Amino acid sequence: MLIILIGMIYNNTMQIRDAQPSDKQAVLDFCKETFSWGDYIADVWDSWILQGNLFVAVENDTPIGLSHLVFTDNRQAWLEGIRIHPNYRRKGYGRKIISHCESIANSKTIRMIIESDNTPSIDLARSIGYDIEDWWRLYALVPKKETSSVITASDINQVSRFISSNTYVDSWKWLPLEKSDLEELLQQKRILLSIQNERVLAIGIWNESKNFANVLQLGFINGTDEGMLDILRFIQNKGYELHSERIQIFSQAKNILEMELLTKRPLFYLMKKDLKKNL
Ligand SMILES: CC(C)(COP(=O)(O)OP(=O)(O)OC[C@H]1O[C@@H](n2cnc3c(N)ncnc32)[C@H](O)[C@@H]1OP(=O)(O)O)[C@@H](O)C(=O)NCCC(=O)NCCS
Repeated sequence: MLIILIGMIYNNTMQIRDAQPSDKQAVLDFCKETFSWGDYIADVWDSWILQGNLFVAVENDTPIGLSHLVFTDNRQAWLEGIRIHPNYRRKGYGRKIISHCESIANSKTIRMIIESDNTPSIDLARSIGYDIEDWWRLYALVPKKETSSVITASDINQVSRFISSNTYVDSWKWLPLEKSDLEELLQQKRILLSIQNERVLAIGIWNESKNFANVLQLGFINGTDEGMLDILRFIQNKGYELHSERIQIFSQAKNILEMELLTKRPLFYLMKKDLKKNL
């Protein structure tokens, strides 16, 4: 009797292991209705499995939780795709799967992004030592043939005074934005300048999303309203030329964008934990 009881307890213990391709269906089944609009895990599963550091929480080897850790560079680990099956919530599993990722991230800074109305997730992150680093707003922009006077930046001195953030967005990951990152972005010709009478009015940092085909993104924007409008028109036109399905604009919430061509989308909390502090 005792052996059976111990066996039952053991069987119900949650364990965390690397995700296998064969876990896909079980994971997609419990992720179908994560948010009011569904979920994006089906779109990224195959590439996440290839990238590695994709973890499942299992009970009796049946997946009931998910998380993905990405080393974006030697400074930061990015945490995404945290999901716990609706029938298994409030059992501490969310906390455990994040703690597993932290043990692998070792001494890095960990960041994650959470929509502002996702109270369970924000409370979970706060309860395990994550702080709000910044607030970001997403906007949508429709591709359109437009004209602008935007050029590509070539000199760090033209851009550094506009850098109001520690991070910029690339393919839904917030990446560190230090001097060396700016220099790399300049080389990649990804920093845009709006110039008038030899004065820089605004800057923007753009990319084509790696996760979603046909999505163009502006991952940082700052400057005067006139300059930012110029940059938005450039991106609109770029989207038109590239036949982009969608354009996503990410801006620090403190820089409010009131331009008519933008559609306001959700507000997000950028959350950060410095694991070095906890060593
Ligand atoms: C957010 C989520 C991962 C939490 O998973 P979970 O296993 O239920 O979380 P835990 O049991 O480990 O909870 C840890 C702490 O988080 C907070 N928390 C979790 N769910 C909460 C809720 N519904 N309301 C308020 N606080 C909550 C509490 O502080 C909790 O500690 P407590 O239970 O001791 O009070 C889960 O609700 C989920 O999958 N949500 C949908 C997907 C999602 O939002 N993912 C995150 C996107 S960034």
